[in-house]
Amino acid sequence: MRNAAVTGHPIGHSKSPLIHGYWLKQHGIEGSYIAQDVPPETAESFYSALAEHGFVGCNVTIPNKEHAYNSAEKLDDAAKMIGAVNTLWLDDAGVLNGSNTDGLGFLGNLDQMLPNWDNNGNKAVVLGAGGASRAIIWALLSRGYTEVYISNRTLEKAQNLADHFGPNTIAIKWDRLGEKFGEADFLVNTTSLGMTGQPELNIDLDNLSKSAVVTDIVYSPLQTKLLRDAEQRGNATVDGLGMLLHQAVPGFEKWFGVRPEVTDELREMILREMGLT
Ligand code: ATR
Repeated sequence: MRNAAVTGHPIGHSKSPLIHGYWLKQHGIEGSYIAQDVPPETAESFYSALAEHGFVGCNVTIPNKEHAYNSAEKLDDAAKMIGAVNTLWLDDAGVLNGSNTDGLGFLGNLDQMLPNWDNNGNKAVVLGAGGASRAIIWALLSRGYTEVYISNRTLEKAQNLADHFGPNTIAIKWDRLGEKFGEADFLVNTTSLGMTGQPELNIDLDNLSKSAVVTDIVYSPLQTKLLRDAEQRGNATVDGLGMLLHQAVPGFEKWFGVRPEVTDELREMILREMGLT
């Protein structure tokens, strides 16, 4: 039997066991996927001895993504550029591989919900400069966006990301955001603003082109103020839940050998479990 887990600290609220449990059952696979509490102090020794702990791989969440990055013996390009690992697996030779699938999850959600969302897209505005922002900048660059504007309350962090990702990324001041809206094809919120229990994201969308696609990584609530406002003025929008579901796909495939699908039924089940329906 092949066993996997989501690891982090605390880990009780993770939705990953529900997602992977659904796929294991759907495919009739005799495997397991559990939530395993791994405190950051012991994280690197835990990941370096995954097989001894009975796992073929695992997901990694807060606060261990950088520890997982340090523990992996082999990193893919996404993990290297994002600087954090959320998916680990042991390959046939027993080598510990690390990837970051948040960027692919972000793209998978948009591809599913709004096919051709990136057609002719070349200018994007990214709000926020934290961990999630890194994955999304990587994803947009991988799709050929040539001007990715990064705006953050703390400008220095946006500038650090622009330096890291190179000439196609440009840091802009939070209060000058609107200046880029007229030419932007795409707008994404990667900050925690708008999440239940956090302040609202209050930005003025007046200058935003009506053809720009708007998305949010916040999925609780599903319909954030940003998405509501954008929809009301006629922009196409995509909510953030699918990113959570799609980021799980590559790990499941590595551990259990089947590429699972993000179905409406899975989405409905997670919405029910989160009390969002
Ligand atoms: P994550 O890994 O989810 O991206 P993070 O690394 O803590 O989380 O980043 C949180 C992001 O939300 C940052 O861009 C942060 O801005 P700062 O870098 O200026 O802290 C942004 N954020 C959080 N609270 C905010 C607020 N009240 N106003 C504006 N931005 C906020």
